[in-house]
Amino acid sequence: MKTVALIVAAGTGERMGGSLPKQYALLAGRPMLAWSHAALSADPAIDEVFVVIGEGHQALLDSALPGARFTIGGATRRQSVALGIRAIGAADRILIHDAARPFVSEQVVDHLLSALETADGAVPVLPVADTLVAADGTNVPRAGLSRVQTPQAFRDEILRRAHADWSGDEPTDDAQMVRALGGSVALVQGDPMLEKVTWAGDIAAAEARVGWETR
Ligand code: CTP
Ligand code: MG
Repeated sequence: MKTVALIVAAGTGERMGGSLPKQYALLAGRPMLAWSHAALSADPAIDEVFVVIGEGHQALLDSALPGARFTIGGATRRQSVALGIRAIGAADRILIHDAARPFVSEQVVDHLLSALETADGAVPVLPVADTLVAADGTNVPRAGLSRVQTPQAFRDEILRRAHADWSGDEPTDDAQMVRALGGSVALVQGDPMLEKVTWAGDIAAAEARVGWETR
């Protein structure tokens, strides 16, 4: 059974700002992308790790991760995933991961791959802690709602079909696309370490999570 991890890293990190796209910014002494790449490469359940990078980012990749296997992504996350899937050869299971979530554990990968024994896809989720309110002031009950993280794991065939057929609005994750085809997506226990780095202050928060002292 062949399992491939695809890390999408073709964004520009607009909300983060700064001189480099955030996935190449130093996080606890190492480019952010290198953290998840190292963890997924070391995971015994994963056979290959592939990166989708932005156009013109090859020199950045070369210095962050010399020798990494990569392809060039597109203008949206969905397009980057689609181009990545096209670039990797046949597999049985594909994990899609955001470079913006640096700290991936083997435990989360294990939960996801176990869930694929009975489901078409699996995503890690955490409960919603805050009270939710709509723009019109209506309270939104949070019971039954979850925050979705990556990596997300899928059976190869349904993920390829979901990306080949997509004609809806821009989705924010791949699970949504697989569900649109009628695929089953299991929810597994997420991990606070997988929190996404989006805004400038998130770098220091991520460093604190690994006990790195920000200077
Ligand atoms: N991504 C990608 N291709 C794109 C857009 C995003 O591969 N065209 C990737 C990002 O590199 C990131 C992940 O998708 O690892 C999640 O996206 P996000 O956190 O939104 O990153 P950016 O799009 O880079 O940030 P921003 O939206 O602030 O510009
Ligand atoms: Mg984005």
